Amino acid sequence: MAGKKLRVGFVGTGGIATNTHFPGWQALADRAEIAAVCDIREAAANAAAKMVGLPKSKVFSDYNEMLGKVELDIVDVCTPNVFHKGPTIAGLNAGCHVIVEKPVAVSAAEVEEMIVARDRSRKLLMVAQSMRFSAEAMAAKRFVDEGGTGPIYWAKAEYLRNRGVPAWGTFIDAEMSAGGPCYDLQVHVLDLCLHLMGFPQPVSVSAGYWCEIANHPSVMAHDPKKYTVPEDLAAGFVRLKNGAAISMGASWALNIADTVHNVTVCGPKGGVNMAPFTLVREERGMFTVTQPKMLPRQGVKSHAEEIRQFVEAIQTGGSSPVPPEEALITQKILDAIYESGQKGREVKIK
Ligand SMILES: NC(=O)c1ccc[n+]([C@@H]2O[C@H](COP(=O)([O-])OP(=O)(O)OC[C@H]3O[C@@H](n4cnc5c(N)ncnc54)[C@H](O)[C@@H]3O)[C@@H](O)[C@H]2O)c1
Repeated sequence: MAGKKLRVGFVGTGGIATNTHFPGWQALADRAEIAAVCDIREAAANAAAKMVGLPKSKVFSDYNEMLGKVELDIVDVCTPNVFHKGPTIAGLNAGCHVIVEKPVAVSAAEVEEMIVARDRSRKLLMVAQSMRFSAEAMAAKRFVDEGGTGPIYWAKAEYLRNRGVPAWGTFIDAEMSAGGPCYDLQVHVLDLCLHLMGFPQPVSVSAGYWCEIANHPSVMAHDPKKYTVPEDLAAGFVRLKNGAAISMGASWALNIADTVHNVTVCGPKGGVNMAPFTLVREERGMFTVTQPKMLPRQGVKSHAEEIRQFVEAIQTGGSSPVPPEEALITQKILDAIYESGQKGREVKIK
């Protein structure tokens, strides 16, 4: 691949594609180029093509047509959640590496199908779990991996907005998103939490979900008739095979004073808190609490960093920075949150 730029085709050119993925690819202009765009909304595809200077011949409304007509190395999938599986498998079948937005899919069964396609294609499949790629998250991972905490036995993964129902995009539309804050927000903090813990296998989930206040007039910026996802809050508890446990929660609307967006992991030797970024240790007879600051040149934009690491893995023959096997574990927990909530009891995870 040396010398040849990687050619990227987009499926879905809405908010996340144009606001974060485009700049990520453009920052790697010496190694990759956006070569085609596809969106079922013609206006969105044309606007995206204009942003990156693509001619009409590289603009599509059908991803299969794009894959048939343009020679691509990578497909970047930025469609709503329920439309992740189709273009991901089509991209892999066309011999492309694929990066797909979070949540990877809307059921564990879908993720398993994506893994089969990945294995058949022998290409890389990466899930765009952007929170892992902030400077603080990467530093936390180094701290844990170098023994800073010891084996993590308790963790908390919370993304609780007090007033933050997304009125933009298709987040509140069950036919497009399939889930509410659980799929939008819980997936981010749960992924980072499990990543820090080394992805232990989950064995059970006890959770609940509620939709109590999202459509109250004081909370609304959205059209309540369009709010068809099941929850405005989901919360629960995961037991893991190694004996550890995670307390979790995600909301778009909740009567708490301030929004919480945090992951905490604790082991016998130390702990990490992501917001504010804090390392806790007991060493040399001192209980030390440090709040490291990232120097400006250590600061990375997480979405651009995830794309850089994906390209690095492709060009060096490395493994996927966020493999679907890890996303499958997260997805099983998300599925179990809804199942446990519906059944009103703990559910087992296989
Ligand atoms: N990582 C993050 O921080 C983050 C933030 C926001 C959204 N997301 C994820 O990104 C995805 C897209 O979200 P968004 O906010 O950009 O939504 P969006 O609605 O702004 O954009 C999605 C685009 O996909 C297009 N589309 C739908 N079906 C298609 C198909 N079959 N073929 C081609 N195009 C199709 C739509 O027309 C739309 O333009 C979601 O899965 C969401 O969870 C991630």
